[in-house]
Amino acid sequence: DWQMGSYIDEAVARIREQVGSEEVILGLSGGVDSSVAAALIHRAIGDQLTCVFVDHGLLRLNEAQMVMDMFAGRLHARVVHVDASEQFLGKLAGVTDPERKRKIIGAEFVEVFQAEAKKLTNAKWLAQGTIYPDVVESGGTKTKKATTIKSHHNVGGLPETLGLKLLEPLRELFKDEVRALGVALGLPPDMVYRHPFPGPGLGVRILGDIRKEYADLLRRADAIFIEELRNTIDPATGKSWYGLTSQAFAVFLPVKSVGVMGDGRTYDYVVALRAVQTSDFMTADWAELPYALLKKVSSRIINEVRGINRVTYDVSSKPPATIEWE
Ligand code: XMP
Repeated sequence: DWQMGSYIDEAVARIREQVGSEEVILGLSGGVDSSVAAALIHRAIGDQLTCVFVDHGLLRLNEAQMVMDMFAGRLHARVVHVDASEQFLGKLAGVTDPERKRKIIGAEFVEVFQAEAKKLTNAKWLAQGTIYPDVVESGGTKTKKATTIKSHHNVGGLPETLGLKLLEPLRELFKDEVRALGVALGLPPDMVYRHPFPGPGLGVRILGDIRKEYADLLRRADAIFIEELRNTIDPATGKSWYGLTSQAFAVFLPVKSVGVMGDGRTYDYVVALRAVQTSDFMTADWAELPYALLKKVSSRIINEVRGINRVTYDVSSKPPATIEWE
């Protein structure tokens, strides 16, 4: 609309004035904030922006392809796609503790990103999709929990190490405004209104030891769940169950149980489905998904994903359970 149009014009002018003819790098994660920041900065300075997309091998099904299609394909932005999955999985082999997994993924991420950033010797700026709530939180205005239940990996400290100036064009915006800006910049609404996805990705949705085999099974089960949530409309509200939930995903349980299929006996893995409704992610209720939806998802996963023969639904609220299983 008109207001958003003039906001974009101003933001573009501000970015151009700030960076002049210098080059900018940005870590693209596929999440809303970094995507909108990339689209905005690209609108302002085109090829002076290089995006670095690090694939840690723990992304959702076809996610890397979607990010590349969107930014390199449709927006014609410069994007370096670093497939570091083997490197990440190598570092994670045999590690079962959730916090250790987070630390390894976070540290490896910084390392891979830095190595790429150093190759872009002309870059003078590091762009980040920091939004207003992030600013407020790190300034201490918001009361923080006394104990860290889960360490969220972030890339604070990177600009100093790399000797880059910081460009944060979304610093004044709330999440809703970031989403509206993304749509106005031409990003697909499906991408802009996606559920949040944790930085460590499937690394905290595969319980214990992470293996590529597990990640591949989980990706397919998760994609079926999300597809059915998007396709199932609640008649009372006219909204999809994807829209009616705040976060939904599958979790891989490295446990085998017995099943029957045709004339044979199976002995395969289990996935748990998790779907929650929440306004702040600090507390959350498990979503009362329709039985027909659960039934369809379960039968599709078991029939289509060879290697999984049992599906369960998580009926735990937060607290005392957390949203993620790790
Ligand atoms: P929990 O599991 O603590 O999750 O109830 C609350 C919200 O935080 C997300 N989450 C993470 N996000 N890095 C992230 O970027 C992490 O390590 C991480 N752990 C949890 C979770 O997906 C939910 O939205």
